[in-house]
Amino acid sequence: MEYRFSNRALSAKPSRIREISARGAVDPEFISFAIGNPAYETFPVEDIRRCADLVYERVPKYALQYGPTIGDDGFRALVKERLQKVMGINPEGNDILVTSGSQQGLTLMPMTMANEGDIVLVEEFTYMGALSCMRGMCTRPVGVKVDEDGINLEALEEACIEAKKYGATISYLYLIPNFQNPMGVCLPLEKRKKILELASKYDFMVYEDNPYGELRYSGEHIPALKALDTEGRVVYAGSFSKILASGIRLGFICASEAVIAKMSALKGNLDSGSPVSSSLIARYFMEEGKLDPHVEKTCALYAKKRNAMVEGLDKYMSSKCTKTNPEGGMFLWVTLPEDADADAVFEACLENHIGVIPSSCFAPDEEKPGKAFRLCFATPTLEEIELGCKRFGDVTKKFFGE
Ligand SMILES: Cc1ncc(COP(=O)(O)O)c(C=O)c1O
Repeated sequence: MEYRFSNRALSAKPSRIREISARGAVDPEFISFAIGNPAYETFPVEDIRRCADLVYERVPKYALQYGPTIGDDGFRALVKERLQKVMGINPEGNDILVTSGSQQGLTLMPMTMANEGDIVLVEEFTYMGALSCMRGMCTRPVGVKVDEDGINLEALEEACIEAKKYGATISYLYLIPNFQNPMGVCLPLEKRKKILELASKYDFMVYEDNPYGELRYSGEHIPALKALDTEGRVVYAGSFSKILASGIRLGFICASEAVIAKMSALKGNLDSGSPVSSSLIARYFMEEGKLDPHVEKTCALYAKKRNAMVEGLDKYMSSKCTKTNPEGGMFLWVTLPEDADADAVFEACLENHIGVIPSSCFAPDEEKPGKAFRLCFATPTLEEIELGCKRFGDVTKKFFGE
């Protein structure tokens, strides 16, 4: 059978991270800094089991029936409260849509706000799961240079001017402002304000993807772009994957009531609503006051792992390579010297039983693959981080010297 796949399906490719992990799965000595999963030991298994029991004791009919597409009201109210407390987001005029992981928002955004061929501005290297959704919706992701403190504002304005010159529409700017995936950088307050000025000047929306925002281990909390948004331009996406458990597939979008109404209608076409039981488990967990202490415990563990990886790379990596120093999140970014053969270094890593993700996986433009790697410190144990840094460091020294 010759299938006539849609252009959307033709743009879909298998994840390279899964490929790299598959290579690791057949190597018993393999240490993975590749996959970006939350650490299993952070999942509050007993509390989740107990909250699930409560759900099926108290409201089995509600939990097992189709629910409202927008999500459980009690859970949405708690999310609004939390967004105000933790991110400074004013609930007035904004609404919450529960999603199946924050991943679902990455399809709902272009589905709701972009037409085929529209430009989506993104950071120079960005979450591949977002790029794949943009391509799947036939929009055009365009990369903008990133500095140590996040997206470069001059480059952002240049991209806007360029688009205008050619009569192209910029639908939205996709940003991961806190502990960016893959680079680990964080946008300071002043830059957030200027981004909103540019969004207003050039009339585009901003999609603020913030799954790591609560995972801060040092430095000061910075208000969300959504907290600074006076025009309803920012669509904010949050997730329970990294602060509770990724397997319950629970995320949400906070945006103006008008945007949420449209997104909710489109989400109805996709899945008629996310599972009520997941929202109720998280709702009971929060109602018992367990989320704050749990996030604190998770941050304490990840801070140790972050420190171990930073120290390990300081000790073992060639001084010709540079790295970011993330204040939170799960990732660190290592940049190779300009004349490096990144593919050869990557292969040498795999041969030395260490998995990292090459920057090409995160590049919106295949012609600009970069010469860098993402290293995840959340999943490996402290012992694996030490040994993995030694192996990775030895590879860099073999290529670039001390
Ligand atoms: C930047 C970013 N956005 C969104 C997601 C999707 O997460 P989830 O669907 O588990 O909330 C991820 C997952 O790792 C991510 O890194």
